[in-house]
Amino acid sequence: YRILCVVGARPNFMKMAPILAAFGKRPALHAQLVHTGQHYDVAMNEQYFASLGLPRPDLNLEVGSGSHAVQTAQVMLRFESALADLAPHAVLVVGDVNSTLACALVARKQGIPVIHVEAGLRSFDRAMPEEINRVLTDQLSDLLFTTEPDGAANLAREGVDARRVHFVGNVMIDTLRANLERAIAPRTIAADAGRAGFVDSAADGYALLTLHRPSNVDQPETLDRLLRTVGAISEQTPVMFPVHPRTLATIERFGLRDLIARPAILPLPPMGYLEMLGLMRDARVVLTDSGGIQEETTALGVPCITLRDNTERPITISEGTNVLAGNDPAAIMAAYQAVLRDGGKSGRIPAYWDGAASERIADILLAWLQRGCQPD
Ligand code: UD1
Repeated sequence: YRILCVVGARPNFMKMAPILAAFGKRPALHAQLVHTGQHYDVAMNEQYFASLGLPRPDLNLEVGSGSHAVQTAQVMLRFESALADLAPHAVLVVGDVNSTLACALVARKQGIPVIHVEAGLRSFDRAMPEEINRVLTDQLSDLLFTTEPDGAANLAREGVDARRVHFVGNVMIDTLRANLERAIAPRTIAADAGRAGFVDSAADGYALLTLHRPSNVDQPETLDRLLRTVGAISEQTPVMFPVHPRTLATIERFGLRDLIARPAILPLPPMGYLEMLGLMRDARVVLTDSGGIQEETTALGVPCITLRDNTERPITISEGTNVLAGNDPAAIMAAYQAVLRDGGKSGRIPAYWDGAASERIADILLAWLQRGCQPD
């Protein structure tokens, strides 16, 4: 069976790697890899392929950046001819980026079954582009794999046939567990950035910051307020800050560079996977608006302060180390003080975040293909 696997943006890469590895162990499954080219910088792209051991894509659609409509439409146009050439038995998409929805829509309309890995997550916030992508991709999918029990409940509410939904755990945590020993030490990262000693000088550890949500970085007032709060944190805990290209662009455009040019803030280029893993593992606290990092910190047992009002990954709060602080300085500072005071939230590892989610997916998928893509 030919399974066309789609990646587009950075968070897709670490989800796809273990899936391809699991398919590779089953002679009946033949993976084809298509990269839409949504992310294209070496740092956002090649660096991840190399460190995760991802194969070269069979095809790169090279869509690049654009407005949501342009980006989604370009993926659709180019993916349609890719489908004709590769003639897969099914298309597998992961996550919630624009490429995920675009390819699911094209495949579904061609009558090719769609498989969605990381289905059922809901923030219930339709102002988030990813929420639109999640809801629609799930509606288009024939086989849906969820990472946490809430996923099945969300899908049931939206009328998705429960026989198509399988709780398998978290493929991103498969990747985390497979690579933890290879994680790159933060000390090395600081030295490579020309700030040797940045981490060592901090007896109480460092904070790791990532920011890229449009709701946090696209308005000058919000970004200004957030960066000033980070500045206040850096007076007690040095901050390592890999800067997403979207965020770098807005920091420059709004003239906010001074806010991160502080001795205890270390701005970094976008990190590779093994660098991020090292930075998360050894951090005293992580401040982020990423989805995946909320899960990775839960898996690592590192306290996470999420700079959003909601999360589509509620298990990271109910069972994991995550707290929501939004982008209000007082709430962020209160969450940070709690970390200083008592080490922050502790948690446990959610069910099936055990490194074997991709194996479960491969087994269920193969049985489903053998049944003619029908539910049990
Ligand atoms: C996308 C995903 C988001 C995910 C994030 C992870 C959507 C709607 N959003 O957001 O869910 O969390 O990826 O990174 O799909 N850029 C570069 N180089 C690149 C890629 C992007 O410079 O390789 C810059 C461009 O200025 C571009 C901007 O970043 O316009 C935004 O890129 P885009 O792919 O539209 O969305 P992300 O913000 O990266």
